[in-house]
Amino acid sequence: MSVTVVETIAELRAALAGRTVALVPTMGALHAGHLALVERAGQLAETVVVSIFVNPLQFGPNEDLDTYPRTLETDVEKLDAAGVEFVFAPSVDVMYPHGPSETRVTAGTVGTLFEGRSRPGHFDGMLTVVTKLLGIVRPAVVLFGQKDAQQVFLVQRMVADLDVATRVSVVETVREDDGLALSSRNQFLDEREKRAALALSTALEAAESSGDRGIDAVLAAAQSVLMGESLVRLDYLSVVNPTTFLPVDDDYRGKARVLIAARVGETRLIDNALIHLGG
Ligand code: PAJ
Repeated sequence: MSVTVVETIAELRAALAGRTVALVPTMGALHAGHLALVERAGQLAETVVVSIFVNPLQFGPNEDLDTYPRTLETDVEKLDAAGVEFVFAPSVDVMYPHGPSETRVTAGTVGTLFEGRSRPGHFDGMLTVVTKLLGIVRPAVVLFGQKDAQQVFLVQRMVADLDVATRVSVVETVREDDGLALSSRNQFLDEREKRAALALSTALEAAESSGDRGIDAVLAAAQSVLMGESLVRLDYLSVVNPTTFLPVDDDYRGKARVLIAARVGETRLIDNALIHLGG
């Protein structure tokens, strides 16, 4: 069976009528991280739909909307090889026929922190397109990667707050052998930058092994790795409570998520890891 590429909402709805669907929303430029979501999707429902849509609503005016990698043909080949039944690849006009939608899903306070601070409006745009995709596909389950931890948190919160009848399944971050988290933006890194980018995952490892010594030790350990790499310009380093996604207090004990965002050359990268704060 080979993959069917669908470009309109009506066609997709007709093709999916009566089926139990797992949806994997993506912006394309697919790599092994996306394919891990696709593989899990195949275990969760009879029909897998992968959407490929570079959503203008979640890009700021000075961001990389125009240069974001678009590789539909090879993406479709990869999904075909992975046994995916449907690719939904709508145009901007299909998704936003009347221009940018007037109605937005807003992410609230957590949406203004971390990625939201550096990228105002990003999470409202993301939640709006995810809501639209859930309305179009009506999947039993939708899959997201832990790589984008704040996105996962906000989607879970939105689905709970708005009583969306879809289960959210989260897949662990897929990494290169050396630790670098896979990202569509990694292809912009030259060899030197790629080596420098390792500072993100190395800093997370350092944070993890300092967890027993408390929050200050965790931040110091991560910071010293990041500062040691001259090509890396740190945007934020923070430790959050996984249940609120707010920075932990000094006396917090238990599971915590370390978040890092940094520019390596011109490319902005993010990574995160779950640690245990003890001591
Ligand atoms: P995109 O960046 O293409 O990512 C699509 C999905 O793949 C997201 O759930 C992301 O977390 C996951 N992913 C990316 N890299 C990963 C990795 N190394 N390991 C595991 N999963 C990984 O995220 C988006 O697109 C958009 O915001 C979207 C949700 C499609 C809405 O437009």
